[in-house]
Amino acid sequence: MSDATDPRSLPGRQKLNLRGLSPARRLTELHRLGIVGPAADGILAHTTEALAESFDAMIENAIGAFPVPLGIATNFTVNGKPRLIAIATEERSVIAAASKAAKLCVSPDGFTVTVGRPRTKAQILYARLADPPAVLAKLRRWRGHIEDLLRNECNPTRKHGGDLRVEEPRFVPGDRDTLVIIEITVDTADAMGANVVTRIAERAADRLLRLFTDAKPTAVICCNDEAGFPVEAEASFEVQGDESLAQRVLDIHAWACHDPSRAVTHNKGVMNAVSGVALATGQDTRAIEACVHASAAKDGLYRPLTAYSADGATRVRGKLTFSLPIGTVGGATSHPTAVFCRELMGVSNAADLAAIMGAAGLAQNFAAMLALAGEGIPGSHARLSRQRRP
Ligand code: MEV
Repeated sequence: MSDATDPRSLPGRQKLNLRGLSPARRLTELHRLGIVGPAADGILAHTTEALAESFDAMIENAIGAFPVPLGIATNFTVNGKPRLIAIATEERSVIAAASKAAKLCVSPDGFTVTVGRPRTKAQILYARLADPPAVLAKLRRWRGHIEDLLRNECNPTRKHGGDLRVEEPRFVPGDRDTLVIIEITVDTADAMGANVVTRIAERAADRLLRLFTDAKPTAVICCNDEAGFPVEAEASFEVQGDESLAQRVLDIHAWACHDPSRAVTHNKGVMNAVSGVALATGQDTRAIEACVHASAAKDGLYRPLTAYSADGATRVRGKLTFSLPIGTVGGATSHPTAVFCRELMGVSNAADLAAIMGAAGLAQNFAAMLALAGEGIPGSHARLSRQRRP
């Protein structure tokens, strides 16, 4: 039950209203109401006025920033090009571990990463239809026509060679054939594209409604499943000249392949780097994480995103396969820190950034397995702390 005297939950019209205030005034108001104490001053001290204002334009009820350390992973060569990798993370060993794995990479061109054209989908849902099979049949009949219309009217990437496709409409499986969806896949080039594809799908839904009035959409939204750039990153790593350590790394990989509980943590290791680069470059980290975990579970069982095999007695070869819904234009990618991080990494476009993220994810995963097979994670954290002490 809510406490009517608690200012966090004042009932009805007296509800706490922080809208229309500056970030600093919001904090003053929270202080005045006794919700927060003097710690509020610390929040402001970490946020310049200009930054607070820019955040205020981005989100509702902004009160400041949450600073996360931003660092550089070194030793990377990706597709023959040396790279520094910007990672924003609060976790102690992430940058050191990625840099160590990159040093152990023995492939001549470093990490070999292939990145396909991006594909971002939006979905239109039709529910509560009087005659779902009839609507499905009509959508099937008009699919090509709608595709041509959209191509001409609003294909945002046509000038970059990117295409747009209206997929075969289908019933949502398992729901007594009452829910019908149609999906539109767009090559969004350098944009992550969630807004663009949703707007295109809204236009498609509108066009379809003009064609037949019994197809009123229930919802239109972008889809985070298999979104963005398909990425495959590969590398061979020297396992410190130690045959039994290499075998243990392969055993740990086998564990992730056969035990979904372990696969979750194994993939968390991949994401330590991927989410860190994503945060540093102003990506929608939740979209990436949702997409990646969905692909890990796409055959019904949660599986590791990486595969490893022996490459001689003391080397292992790793491969990371996933999709990355990322961009270098739009959203928070124009934030000065994101712009700086792209410059630091020498990112030329979104596909290039996806290649870097693939290499970083594979390196991070290999480093975690190496630590598990050797000194253990707490041991590696303790060593790093000792090394950092003056
Ligand atoms: C810790 O953030 C990530 C690891 O647990 C990943 C793994 O176990 O593979 C070290």
